[in-house]
Amino acid sequence: MTRIDEIVDGIYRISTTVDVNGGFQFNQFVIDDERPALIHTGMHQMYDLVRDAVAQLLDPGKLEYVILLHFESDENGGMDRFLEGAPGSTLACSALSHQLNLSGWNYRGRVEGHRDGEVIDLGRHKLRFLETPHVHHWDSMMLFEETTKSLFPSDLFIQPGDQPPVVTENLGSEMCGFYRAIGIFAHEEPVRRVVDRVEAVDPDWVHGMHGGSLTRESFPYFVRALRDERFAYEGKLLGRPLE
Ligand SMILES: [Fe+2]
Ligand SMILES: [Fe+2]
Repeated sequence: MTRIDEIVDGIYRISTTVDVNGGFQFNQFVIDDERPALIHTGMHQMYDLVRDAVAQLLDPGKLEYVILLHFESDENGGMDRFLEGAPGSTLACSALSHQLNLSGWNYRGRVEGHRDGEVIDLGRHKLRFLETPHVHHWDSMMLFEETTKSLFPSDLFIQPGDQPPVVTENLGSEMCGFYRAIGIFAHEEPVRRVVDRVEAVDPDWVHGMHGGSLTRESFPYFVRALRDERFAYEGKLLGRPLE
């Protein structure tokens, strides 16, 4: 099931809940502006579904940016077809996603690798790059949209389950338990360093890839849980214990 909601001024969440372990959501975000952008494409198999959802908001052929926050199928499995369908578009990613992956991939579209602090100007919205290595990949980055004070943290601040578009509940301990069960982070330290950084940018909104968007009121619950609780790898991969 896929739904589309405008979360805040021109930022739309496309969310599909899949039926695994009580539900898990995959979100993509459209920023409707002079230069429209799509953040995360979803997996290769989700392309038609995501494209149809984007088409309810704007012409997917007019996308100017398709943005991936680290190299993984739910971030960029649809990149080839989105870029083919929008000939004027550019794939934007971290400098490391470009150097480590895309420069050696069979990808033929235009691509820009960005470093910390660089900004993409979409018109009313401005996307600032934060390089956030090891949260949870080497090439990971986040985006901060300066006009709406929106953070796009990808897989940080996950909430499993079928969540509403905006989450006001304290699900911090559920998040940490989920991280321990799936083994997504090698260690707490690089993640907590990024938590300090993103708290300092003082977001009004946090639009994660899995779960609902957090507000200024609910964000501190998740920050506190990441500071106080364990969430790093403890021998389980996607719930499967390793000998
Ligand atoms: Fe990921
Ligand atoms: Fe993800």
